[in-house]
Amino acid sequence: MIYKNSKSFADELDQQDPLKLYRGKFHYPKKENGEDTIYLCGNSLGLQPKSVRSFIEQELVVWEKDGVKGQHGRWEKFHERLAQSSANLVGAKKTEVVVMNALTVNLHFLLISFYQPNRKRNKIIIEKGAFPSDQYAVESQIKLHGFDPKECLIELAPRKGEKTLRTDDILQTIIKTGDELATLIMGGVNYYTGQAFDMKTITEAGQSVGAYVGFDLAHAAGNLNLNLHDWNLDFAAWCTYKYLCAGPGAPSGIFIHERHHDWDGPRFAGWWGQNKQTRFEMGPNFDPILTAEGWQVSNAPVMGMAPLLASMEIFDEIGMESVREKGDKLTGFLEYLLNEKTPNISIITPDERGCQLSLVIPGGKSVFEVITEKGVVCDWREPDVIRIAPHPLFNSYSEIFQFVEILEKSL
Ligand SMILES: Cc1ncc(COP(=O)(O)O)c(C=O)c1O
Repeated sequence: MIYKNSKSFADELDQQDPLKLYRGKFHYPKKENGEDTIYLCGNSLGLQPKSVRSFIEQELVVWEKDGVKGQHGRWEKFHERLAQSSANLVGAKKTEVVVMNALTVNLHFLLISFYQPNRKRNKIIIEKGAFPSDQYAVESQIKLHGFDPKECLIELAPRKGEKTLRTDDILQTIIKTGDELATLIMGGVNYYTGQAFDMKTITEAGQSVGAYVGFDLAHAAGNLNLNLHDWNLDFAAWCTYKYLCAGPGAPSGIFIHERHHDWDGPRFAGWWGQNKQTRFEMGPNFDPILTAEGWQVSNAPVMGMAPLLASMEIFDEIGMESVREKGDKLTGFLEYLLNEKTPNISIITPDERGCQLSLVIPGGKSVFEVITEKGVVCDWREPDVIRIAPHPLFNSYSEIFQFVEILEKSL
């Protein structure tokens, strides 16, 4: 795509944008003067679809009028209404996904199954600079099994002087760790640098040494085209409050490859994972559902899932291919304008990426404060990065143009 450095070009792109009407389906945060902010923070918290209110209201009305009767046939199956959309979103079979709990909770649940260390094979590979919650979860899992994170945790670090990881280096570490590697878990997209990883190749390498391989897709779900089933991941989890716009603390999705569904290894069990035919017989023996649903523990948080139903309706309507196509174009335009107008800024995000660009700016934090004052919503991540993430469903090309002008003047 050939871009031009002009407002009229940005307006032209907006006019041609097949997704332009979707912006109107979201509530857009305002500045004090009532004008729209420039919201470039969909990688942190996606905006509220206007339809969310009616999705929640429907459940409030059922609760109000029917009380516990809402449970029968409706709320007991509520999470099932998200299965097909979640499967489409991550490239999985319907039976391989379920929405439950929150993201870090699910990472723990998945690691209880997919990290089974023994004296020989007890290492976990993670990226250095993974999201801290993942780091804490993994370290606590290692300790839970009586091992020492100092010995068992292998962190993938960029080469000296580089900011991002090379796939070859990841593969080398996997091969070197060999039959000591129990589990590899890393972000599909790194939250700090915005680097997207080659999940297929990494999965293949991890499994070739006998390890389980899983990804935290917090920054990948609703951002990248994913094909988890064909890429053969063992497991994955994602949150739904970022690109997926399901609201603060919205529930998480998990993927478990179908070859594991007949699982008799360790797992945390609860009644919602129980065979649906016998769940309400309240018997003492756990007989798990033979799909990803077997990993559920508790009944569905209906009020938290209702906004996700609203946003997934929008994603279903558009399809991930088109979402990605616009994401790519918007981010490409942002990159082009930054290179044209603000050459002192370094973009540390590599070409393998989704919508986020991570910028290292001379005088970073004070620039961040100035652009925030001017109505740009983005975020600052210590020690030196401003993350900018244009969202294909609610950001426009002219906003990107406006943002780079504001940034240029704030430097
Ligand atoms: C990559 C990543 N992992 C984990 C988390 C933690 O998510 P939660 O608080 O929903 O468990 C986040 C939150 O932003 C994240 O970005």
